[in-house]
Amino acid sequence: MTGDPFALQTYSLLDDEDCEARIRAAKEALGERLVILGHHYQREEVYRHADYTGDSLKLSRLAAASHARYIVFCGVHFMAEVADILSRPDQIVVLPDLAAGCSMADMASLAKVERAWSELSAVLDPDAHITPVTYINSAADLKAFCGRHGGIVCTSTNARDVLEWSFRRREKVLFFPDQHLGRNTGHRMGIDPEQMVVWDFDRPLGGLTEARIRAARIILWKGFCSVHQMFRPAHIDAFKERFPDAKVISHPECSFEVCEKSDFVGSTEFIIKTVAESAPGTRWLVGTELNLVERLNTQFRDEGKSAHFMSPTVCMCSTMFRIDPQHLAWTLENLARDRVVNRIQVPPATADQARVALERMLKVSP
Ligand code: 13P
Ligand code: SF4
Repeated sequence: MTGDPFALQTYSLLDDEDCEARIRAAKEALGERLVILGHHYQREEVYRHADYTGDSLKLSRLAAASHARYIVFCGVHFMAEVADILSRPDQIVVLPDLAAGCSMADMASLAKVERAWSELSAVLDPDAHITPVTYINSAADLKAFCGRHGGIVCTSTNARDVLEWSFRRREKVLFFPDQHLGRNTGHRMGIDPEQMVVWDFDRPLGGLTEARIRAARIILWKGFCSVHQMFRPAHIDAFKERFPDAKVISHPECSFEVCEKSDFVGSTEFIIKTVAESAPGTRWLVGTELNLVERLNTQFRDEGKSAHFMSPTVCMCSTMFRIDPQHLAWTLENLARDRVVNRIQVPPATADQARVALERMLKVSP
């Protein structure tokens, strides 16, 4: 056991109530030097301390607009990287637990994407014919790759605007890492399923033939979110049998079949807004992360609305869940003593190129 009262081990022994009081006191001490940004999947004990909450797009904009010296990001690693890239150099971005990653983001690495780009060059000149589009759920070096190759970043909110921008420049798109967001968006744009091919990064030429690549409009990386891929069309059918009037709303990281059976598809912010604006008494089946669904249920109970988690198996985003009150208290009390822990700092050369792709996205976003 360490003698340092501000070491992480000390905080891991605190219960949530102790943390609650200490988080409030540290926030007060830090005043305007601090802003806490919280993603909608954060657990309640953390979420309630956020100054601003949002989906990935909204939080990116909030980070870019913030004047605070310290931006504490209650979310996952790629989100904190974006905040660092879009904030001023004298601002400091902190992720309370560095292990809060995103398993989908980890499915695409720079080495694998560069290999795909070079393999594609055996079929056509990718820089002339393909716009690389990375979902914001990806490492900063992949955003930089898009910046260097005339590409762009997208989120679940603006994927369609981003794809339209991309097709105005080049006739094909390489979309990574989430195949579902790419396919669901392409489908809504009227792209033939035959022209959306899956690039299996473990096989030569992505497991595709030259002819399929030449005919493709979107080359989808074989990545997915393990939380959202749990939801199945059968879950929707079973629910609708019990509650025929229920409405179904899903995140576009869900499979094509789930999105097709949903009444609404959109980002976490869109899901909240849609439920908020629905008629009193509406019953919702929601295909997204559990913490958000439970919050919807509590938030709108007084209006007689209910929100049901789409899968019978309880499963939350385990990496979002890593941000707990103990890590938040540790982070804030250290910052209050001007001791920075868990800083997220993207190397300047990578940040400069990633910013190009992010700024293209911000420009085309609604
Ligand atoms: P949103 O941008 O819709 O909040 O989605 C982020 C995410 O990681 C969903 O799994
Ligand atoms: Fe990543 Fe899925 Fe978690 Fe979203 S829910 S942060 S995509 S692992």
